[in-house]
Amino acid sequence: MPNTSRQHLAAMVPSVGAPFVIEPRSTPTPGPNEVLIEVKSVAVNPLDYFQRYTGFHIDVFPAIIGSDVGGTIIEVGSSVSLELKPGTRVSAFAPTFLLNGSPNYGAFQERVLVPDHFVTPLPNGRVSFNEASILPMALLTAWTGIVYQLGIPTSTTPYKPSDKQGLLIWSGASSVGTMAVKEDGVTVQLAYHTTGDLQDTLKVLQRVKGNGIAKVASAPALTEESPKTNDIEIGFVAPTSSGPKFDEVIDFVFRVWLKERLERAEFSPSPRVQVIGKGLGSLQLALEE
Ligand SMILES: NC(=O)c1ccc[n+]([C@@H]2O[C@H](COP(=O)([O-])OP(=O)(O)OC[C@H]3O[C@@H](n4cnc5c(N)ncnc54)[C@H](OP(=O)(O)O)[C@@H]3O)[C@@H](O)[C@H]2O)c1
Repeated sequence: MPNTSRQHLAAMVPSVGAPFVIEPRSTPTPGPNEVLIEVKSVAVNPLDYFQRYTGFHIDVFPAIIGSDVGGTIIEVGSSVSLELKPGTRVSAFAPTFLLNGSPNYGAFQERVLVPDHFVTPLPNGRVSFNEASILPMALLTAWTGIVYQLGIPTSTTPYKPSDKQGLLIWSGASSVGTMAVKEDGVTVQLAYHTTGDLQDTLKVLQRVKGNGIAKVASAPALTEESPKTNDIEIGFVAPTSSGPKFDEVIDFVFRVWLKERLERAEFSPSPRVQVIGKGLGSLQLALEE
């Protein structure tokens, strides 16, 4: 018998392509380096739609998907730093995708377990739960592309004009793009209203790169049909890695970069939040938007 005194509601994906089923489930207890978060707001990503319909990257059913959380810590593991105590308002990346749909770690439920290095405390009185929920996936994707695919270090050594380095952010108004625009040391010199795909990006890069090296970090998936060129390295942004470098990037993004910028009010969540509805019952509608 499940412990009914510790239950919460969850939107579960019961099998590949099946609609969400909202049911109570046992509330897990955080491990030493984990926090239990009461979920106040979730954001939806294109990935959620894809996972819900195709079972992509899900090993176990029923699965709980969803990556982006704004909420309040209600319980902490024995090794979690004092800064993340019960009552702390946070933005958090729920790592269900990295854990192949593992239900304790999906955002689409009332209480979720999150490892502490994916959690950023929110400054008092600023940044709403809704705003907090739109940050983690987009920020992690932007930084993963920058560090892994483009090879730009997380160190804050600023580039100088004499370095002649340039960053072309394609779709700067998207959730991922708008986070890339906020990276350290980036001065937006030219902005265009553009639409298009990888082919257009390559054409622009070929024009501006001269004899230099150009690399593309593509957030949208690459397929066999995706355009290729000999003179530009194209890589898919894949925050599915693990290991020491990945841990370092995660720690930097959530525990240093975002935390410090929110504290100093140097960072405003973007793009503008669009509220679709209240409660887990709104998730299906949100995915269809
Ligand atoms: N690799 C990864 O780990 C990873 C992680 C996150 C996201 N992604 C991928 O990155 C991409 C962006 O994700 P996101 O969360 O940033 O999405 P988003 O916030 O929904 O932004 C998508 C942007 O594309 C524009 N758009 C949509 N359809 C278009 C069309 N037919 N022509 C021109 N513009 C169009 C939208 O414009 P409007 O607002 O005007 O509609 C919006 O600005 C998606 O392909 C997503 O799957 C990958």
